[in-house]
Amino acid sequence: MATPTAIKNPEIKYTQILINNEWVNSVSGKTFPTINPATAQKITDVQEGDKADVDKAVAAAKEAFKLGSPWRRMDASERGRLLNKFADLLERDIAYIASLETLDNGKPFKNSVGDIAFSIKCIRYYAGWSDKNQGKTMPVDGDFFAYTRHEPVGICGQIIPWNYPMLMFSWKIAPAVAMGNVVIIKPAEQTPLTALYAGALTIEAGFPPGVVNMVPGYGPTAGAALTKHADVNKVAFTGSTEVGQIIMQAAGASNLKRTTLELGGKSPNVIFPDVDIDSVVEFANEAAMTNMGQCCIAGSRTFVHEDIYDEFVKKSVERAKRRTVGDPWDNPENGPQIDEEQFNKILGLIKAGQEDGAKLECGGGRYGEKGYFIQPTVFSGVQDNMRIARQEIFGPVQSIFKFKTMEEVLERANDTNYGLAAAVFTNDINTAMTYTQGVKAGTVWVNCYEVVNPQAPFGGFKMSGLGRELGEYGLSQYTEVKNVVFKVPQKNS
Ligand code: NAI
Ligand code: MG
Repeated sequence: MATPTAIKNPEIKYTQILINNEWVNSVSGKTFPTINPATAQKITDVQEGDKADVDKAVAAAKEAFKLGSPWRRMDASERGRLLNKFADLLERDIAYIASLETLDNGKPFKNSVGDIAFSIKCIRYYAGWSDKNQGKTMPVDGDFFAYTRHEPVGICGQIIPWNYPMLMFSWKIAPAVAMGNVVIIKPAEQTPLTALYAGALTIEAGFPPGVVNMVPGYGPTAGAALTKHADVNKVAFTGSTEVGQIIMQAAGASNLKRTTLELGGKSPNVIFPDVDIDSVVEFANEAAMTNMGQCCIAGSRTFVHEDIYDEFVKKSVERAKRRTVGDPWDNPENGPQIDEEQFNKILGLIKAGQEDGAKLECGGGRYGEKGYFIQPTVFSGVQDNMRIARQEIFGPVQSIFKFKTMEEVLERANDTNYGLAAAVFTNDINTAMTYTQGVKAGTVWVNCYEVVNPQAPFGGFKMSGLGRELGEYGLSQYTEVKNVVFKVPQKNS
């Protein structure tokens, strides 16, 4: 794929609600603004969905999912073909979609391109699974023949965050549709534009009406309506742990919806002294600050062995000072944070770090005069009980801790409610083995960080989530297992 060229003023084509392959206005007539975080200026107004719009979308999805409908009668291989067509269209329009993502989200253009490329891969990966997720036959006792069918769950409400808008959209829609479900997607209120454009491409690809629906709007209104609706069979959510808990309660109270949650993290990145320090400083900086730190798997706790601690801190500070910040169209390493709320939260936590006695080595403040930019920030001397050690910051902040032994660092790495990801840097195979077995996290990296692929599972231990996305593991979240038992007549009975 040739490197796409940015379109700095992408035309905004879709700002409405998508129901039954038709674009409609909100029942209430309300709209909400979406903001360019690099300038804090409004881009456009988007139709604001709420419960009434969710009700309409659910009715359309229900119709599309009825037995005998075109979608239910479609060959599984044809669902795969539609998904591949959809991926082709995303590829055709990647320059435009990546530009729209940068405008709406603020991430550097090259990062947007990377996100869309990953989204395309994810959709193609699940397109391939469409006709391959087969059941089993079991040698049951007695004169019976039993087999399993992996059937779609039904109507899936999918609630998307703003940090990777297209990527999270693809992780949600692709396995759901591949397995024959119908979906109602609620994009994040900060970043609705790329998902809506992709919605138009699902129509162009040929998905029947009602299979893919989209209701942009706010969480406590449109999002909550999806989680509470008794005809919605499953909810998939990526976002804060706090909202994840609310969603699980709503899902339980309404109709015991199947629930997958991909929530926050405070991932430990543990560095032993037998490594090449320069290269690991680079990994640790990127682990903490990629996507402006707005990353659920951010390596936000850097544990460094005491033998190399001082040198590691010194080099990490030099690296953070070299990290480029600026206009996302110029492809810096860091663009702006997503919005004023996140900007203020991060600055508040940086202040808390200073109050709690950590040493602010560099950064710590706003970058520039407009937009929501924050300077790459490094703290040393961070202690486990400090607020910056315990809370998800979701900003370009690296906290460096000192440790002595494996036993101690494992205990400290696990002393958190989160368990999304973890990493270890060492050249000793026994050290790597002990750590990967002992750390409580859904993904553990050895001598690398943030390696995420469509083929391998992603998700959290503890309060980082429930269930897994991606890979073959992700399929079970979108299927119900049906056991079918036949009585087999016997010749002599
Ligand atoms: P959030 O969890 O409120 O928002 C994520 C999505 O959930 C959005 O689409 C939002 O509209 C929706 N939502 C919010 N309240 C809801 C409700 N009651 N019912 C249904 N849907 C609801 O996250 P927010 O406020 O944007 O960020 C707060 C913190 O959450 C961040 O600072 C970060 O620590 C964490 N976060 C983690 C993400 C991840 O990738 N795991 C992504 C975004 C935020
Ligand atoms: Mg919120």
